[in-house]
Amino acid sequence: MFDSGVGGLTVLKAFRQAFPTADIHYVGDTLHMPYGDKSPENIQDFSRKIARYLRNSGAELIVIACNSASSWAFEAVCQEADDIPVLDVVRPVVHYLAQQSDVNWVGLVGTRATVQSGIYPRLLKAIAPHIHIETLATPLLAPLVEEGIQLHDLNRILVRHYLQQMPLDQAQALVLACTHYPVLHDVFQELLGPQIQVLNPGQVLANQCKAQGMDFAGTGNLFCEVTEYTPAFEKTAERLLGYPISLQTVDLRS
Ligand code: DGL
Repeated sequence: MFDSGVGGLTVLKAFRQAFPTADIHYVGDTLHMPYGDKSPENIQDFSRKIARYLRNSGAELIVIACNSASSWAFEAVCQEADDIPVLDVVRPVVHYLAQQSDVNWVGLVGTRATVQSGIYPRLLKAIAPHIHIETLATPLLAPLVEEGIQLHDLNRILVRHYLQQMPLDQAQALVLACTHYPVLHDVFQELLGPQIQVLNPGQVLANQCKAQGMDFAGTGNLFCEVTEYTPAFEKTAERLLGYPISLQTVDLRS
C-alpha cells in the first residue's frame, strides 16, 4: 500500500479494520510529498518505483492509497505490478456513487493533480451519466494534515473557505478525493450538515473488498516505511491509527 505521506493511513486503517489478518507493507513517499502538485510524469515515475519495490518485497496485492497516483498512475502501477492485482481509491468511489439511486449531484474536493486529471467526471460519465459532479482543488489541506496540525478553528476556517467556493445546495454527497482529507471528515460533516454524505475513499474501498469476499491469511503485521523520515509522520500516524508505529526509511531513488 502506498501514498505520498500519512494520507494513505486512512486507507490502511479502514483496510485493517476490515481485514485484521492482512499483513501490510506501507510506503509513504514523504520525500516527494505532495504528489498533488507534481506533474503526471513525476507521479507516474514515483508510483512505478514504489510498485516495483513492493512487488519485489513479496506483495500479493498493491493498493494505491492515494488519489493523485490513482488518477495519473493506475496503468503505470498495473504494468509494474505485472501479474499482481492492483486496487486504487478512485474507481471504487465511482462505482459506489453509480449504485446509489438517491445520488444525482456530487461535490468533490481533491488535490490539483486529481482535479486536473478529470478522472472522476470522465469515469462517472461513462457509467452514471445522470450524476452531476462539481470538483474543486483544495491544495492547502494535505499539508495541514501531514503536519498534524490539530487547531480545530484553523481547520474549520480552511475547510469553510474551500466549501464556500462550491455550489453544493443540491448535493447529496461530497467525495473526499484525497486520502489525507478523511482526517478532517468531522469538520467537513459539521459544516455541510447531515443531509450530505461525506465519502472516505479508503472506507469505500475496504467495504467493496469485503463485499467481494476478499480475505487475507496473514497475521496482521504492519511494516511502515517512508522515503524521508519526518517526526510529523510518526506523530500523525500514531494519532490517526490510535497505536504507535515503528517507522523505517527506504531509499527508492536509484
Ligand atoms: N494523499 C494524496 C492523495 O490522495 C495527496 C497528498 C499529496 O498531495 O501528496 O491525492
